[in-house]
Amino acid sequence: MSFRLQPTAPARPNRCQLFGPGSNTKLFPKMAASAADVINLDLEDSVAPNDKAQARRNIIAASHEIDWNTKYLSVRINGLDTPYWYRDVVELLEEGSERIDQIMIPKVGCAADVYAVDALVTAIEAAKGRTKKISLEVIIESAAGIAHVEEIAAASPRLQAMSLGAADFAASMGMQTTGIGGTQENYYMLRDGAKYWSDPWHWAQAAIVAACRTHGILPVDGPFGDFSDDDGFRAQALRSATLGMVGKWAIHPKQIALANEVFTPSDEAVTEAREILAAMEEAKARGEGATVYKGRLVDIASIKQAEVIVRQAEMIKD
Ligand code: COA
Ligand code: MG
Repeated sequence: MSFRLQPTAPARPNRCQLFGPGSNTKLFPKMAASAADVINLDLEDSVAPNDKAQARRNIIAASHEIDWNTKYLSVRINGLDTPYWYRDVVELLEEGSERIDQIMIPKVGCAADVYAVDALVTAIEAAKGRTKKISLEVIIESAAGIAHVEEIAAASPRLQAMSLGAADFAASMGMQTTGIGGTQENYYMLRDGAKYWSDPWHWAQAAIVAACRTHGILPVDGPFGDFSDDDGFRAQALRSATLGMVGKWAIHPKQIALANEVFTPSDEAVTEAREILAAMEEAKARGEGATVYKGRLVDIASIKQAEVIVRQAEMIKD
């Protein structure tokens, strides 16, 4: 390990982030009653320009009136290139209730984007005497965002989570893709005339996970557009989980159970992780740094992998 230790990410479940437009108030109680860990009320791209002001009022009212129970309540503001974002932050934090946990910043391109929002949030919190410190999450969904992903991850102590936004990312990169996330028709290897599809999101996901893990932030996979394709969602989510992401967005309630299924460690995985930890304890008592578990080598690195699974399971159970 480097002299600089890797910080742990915030200890809260973030298996599924359910989105809903701030203009569609009839969805709010359904979102509050859902099984998603995080709720993202949207002021950005799912809200038409003429509805922005009313959507803010709706979200402010909902922060006072709806019982969000244990949900982590996040509001996606408009991008810093729009005329809307500063009023989003000012109105939400001057008039919204203390129930709001987080502000999500879309299309972040550099650390200064996060700094600007942090400065505004800090001033309003102080002016209004807000007691809960608002956290931030960002979406990496542009070429600049991925090019500066590490400085963005380091930009603010308020930052808790970072998502990949596949659709805007693909557009900004000039990628010839269709559909939001998942397998892309033209991204394949050819061998003996047979096509083997590859994962065009792999590099961006791995870059996000590395930046997040370096700075103690939760890496999250963004939307999967085709909500009639459960298998496609599951396959994308399993790849994200394998790469170290902790959760995925849902843009339709159907996707919540799928995300929770993939990002909740299975009973077998937790049992196996506990057995590995026990086997390593016994090895340590014998003065050994490695041992054999079910015919495989396990060593100090295995302890850390097993601890990730056990920690995640315990956090979700609480
Ligand atoms: N959260 C909670 N409940 C939702 C929901 C959401 N995001 N989206 C739909 N529902 C509810 C519907 O109200 C309906 O409830 P009912 O059975 O009580 O009538 C049920 O789930 C089934 O909905 P369905 O008819 O299949 O979908 P729809 O046509 O009402 O809505 C979308 C489809 C895509 C417009 C809607 O899901 C949506 O707005 N999703 C979020 C979009 C978004 O926020 N995008 C920004 C991030 S990418
Ligand atoms: Mg987007």
